[in-house]
Amino acid sequence: MTPAQSSRPLFNLKDLLCEQLRDLHDAEKQYGSQLPEMVSKATSSHLKDKLSEVSDRVLNNAEELAHACQILGVPSGGVTCEAMKGLIREAKDTSSDWGDSATLDASLISNAQRIAHYEIAGFGTARAFARCLKLGEVAEILQHLLEQAFQDDKDLSYIANGGWFTPGINHEAAEPAIKPLNTPGSEVPSAAGTSVDAS
Ligand SMILES: [Fe+2]
Repeated sequence: MTPAQSSRPLFNLKDLLCEQLRDLHDAEKQYGSQLPEMVSKATSSHLKDKLSEVSDRVLNNAEELAHACQILGVPSGGVTCEAMKGLIREAKDTSSDWGDSATLDASLISNAQRIAHYEIAGFGTARAFARCLKLGEVAEILQHLLEQAFQDDKDLSYIANGGWFTPGINHEAAEPAIKPLNTPGSEVPSAAGTSVDAS
C-alpha cells in the first residue's frame, strides 16, 4: 500500500489498524484469484487438495476481513497490497518451466509458503493492534485467520518434507539432482517446507 492510496491521513493506532485490514483484504482477494492457477499446475494429488483447501480459506478470509472493516466503519476496498502483487508475480514467474513434476510442486509449495508467512505477519500484527485497542470482535476474527494460516503453513511443510515413513516432495525432487554426483552423505538442500513457529 502506498501513502497516496490511503483515502485519509493516518492519525492513530486505530487508523493504522483500519489501513492494514484494508491492505490484507486486498491481499487475500489477489491471492484468491491466483490460487486456481496454482491448483491446476500442482501434480501431486495431496498438494492439489491442499491448495484447493487454501483457495476456499482465502476467499473466506476476504469476507472476514471485509466484516472486520465493517465493524470499524471503514470501506474494505480502495487499497492495493503491493507486497502481494510482488509475491504473485514471483509465483507466476517461478512455477512454470520446471523439468520434472516434483520440482514444479516444490516450487508451488515454496511460493504458497512465502505467501502464508506474509499472511501470518499481517494477521498477527493486526491482531496485536486490535487487542491493544480492546476491539475484541476484530481481534477474534484475526486470531481465527492467523490459526488457519499457521495450519496451512504446517500442512505445506509436511507435504514438502514428509514424515517418518513418507518421503516428501522435496526428496522426490532432489533425487535426480543428487544421483549423478554420487556423493554419499552429501546434504540435500530443502527446496521448500520451512514453517514458522506458531508461538
Ligand atoms: Fe500488504
